Amino acid sequence: MDKKITIAIDGFSSTGKSTVAKKLARELGYVYVDTGAMYRAVTLYMMRKVFVADGNFDREAIIRHLPFINLKFVFNNSLGYGEIYLNNENVEKEIRYLDVSKHVSQVAAIPEIRKMLVKQQQEMGKNKGIVMDGRDIGTVVFPGAELKIFMTASTEQRAKRRYDELKERGDNIEYEAVLKNVKDRDFLDSTREDSPLRKAVDAVEFDNSRMNLEEQFEKVLKLANDKIKEV
Ligand code: DC
Repeated sequence: MDKKITIAIDGFSSTGKSTVAKKLARELGYVYVDTGAMYRAVTLYMMRKVFVADGNFDREAIIRHLPFINLKFVFNNSLGYGEIYLNNENVEKEIRYLDVSKHVSQVAAIPEIRKMLVKQQQEMGKNKGIVMDGRDIGTVVFPGAELKIFMTASTEQRAKRRYDELKERGDNIEYEAVLKNVKDRDFLDSTREDSPLRKAVDAVEFDNSRMNLEEQFEKVLKLANDKIKEV
């Protein structure tokens, strides 16, 4: 039987990481973990319980609330991947709203939160056979991952994808607001002190601005199968 490996997929927001990662996990029979969903769920919790505004939040209160947060992924058979539950409530939809997107990068920059989530992520992947996507998977969570992928795409292309997704869900939203959010998050995610978004030196980088999902998937699947044969 083939050995199981760890696959880390990192990159800027809305590069389509999660779509490729989910498809890859399904194909390989691996577990898929969306770590952005974890940061989003913590942000949603804080927005409900603690004051969180643009560039302004009660850091001490946020840290005090951390022990009361329970996150888990529950596999949804019809979707084919795990949905995130925050203290037993399915928040998969709510965490994608622009309001959460606006605050998530500042919450994700808090070291105590990163420490808590990284520990949970390492636990989830300890038996390998996992595809995990995020910003620091190849650099911090699994620096020893056998396959690391770093996905990029132009800012406008990514904003357009996110805008189309939100529109399709029925959100009444302006393209300019989505573009601004993508730019703001790129900046915050790559300049924060703790685990900034970086390409791991041994990651394979690819720009998917001009690739469709099928092409991206073929490419990633080949990389994964080559690695699996190699280990
Ligand atoms: O992948 P996403 O856009 O759903 O992630 C939401 C935010 O969470 C993103 O702006 C940065 C943060 N994040 C992070 O800091 N580290 C991760 N491993 C995943 C996400």
